[in-house]
Amino acid sequence: FQPKPLQGVRVLITAGPTAEPIDPVRVLTNVSSGKMGYAIARAAREAGADVTLVSGPTALATPRGVLRIDAHSARDMMSAVMGETPRADVFIAVAAVADWRVAEASAQKIKKTAGEPPTLSFVQNPDILATVAALPGGPYCVGFAAETEHLDQHATEKRQRKGIPLLVGNLAQDALGADDTTLILYDDQGRHPLPRQSKLAAARELIAQVARRLPAGRVP
Ligand code: C5P
Repeated sequence: FQPKPLQGVRVLITAGPTAEPIDPVRVLTNVSSGKMGYAIARAAREAGADVTLVSGPTALATPRGVLRIDAHSARDMMSAVMGETPRADVFIAVAAVADWRVAEASAQKIKKTAGEPPTLSFVQNPDILATVAALPGGPYCVGFAAETEHLDQHATEKRQRKGIPLLVGNLAQDALGADDTTLILYDDQGRHPLPRQSKLAAARELIAQVARRLPAGRVP
């Protein structure tokens, strides 16, 4: 009998985009299908974890056995995540969170006025991953970085800036909306490229790597 590698480990995952209201009928969002995060949720469940998936708006079905909490804006996602972190051993932030929201979303639909497009001003959203990573006694944190260039440099800097042990990088043009992806893992030891493969196969490899790195105190 082989015990599953994440048996009883509580894994919290964010996935998909966030949507920031401009007015009741318009949003500002990021390009993200949610496929990678949902594949990771499925792989973690297969590995025996108790999985909670905090999801922005996607068209995907919830993986079997996974508890899904829907979130709309970055602030919704933040409060759903903060409500779950006390029960999480691992936090994997896959969501493409909007970095900014509209400073004052209009309560009514903004009307077209001839020749006068509206001007929007923005305020920064909270960084969910950095906030969770800074919690004393918080979960083991894994981040994602989708970059269009200089992946190694941006991913390495991002891992240090967020204060996390493991960051997964990929090229946006390679991964967005696709069923396949090429992931590179970045940790204290350097970079560890994975082959190009389906998002589910990549998710299973990532989960095996997370299981191997999990601090002993996090394994039930
Ligand atoms: O550079 P960036 O802040 O976009 O880093 C991406 C990583 O941080 C991803 O893991 C993403 O889920 C997470 N993130 C977050 N909250 C934000 C922005 C990014 O959790 N507001």
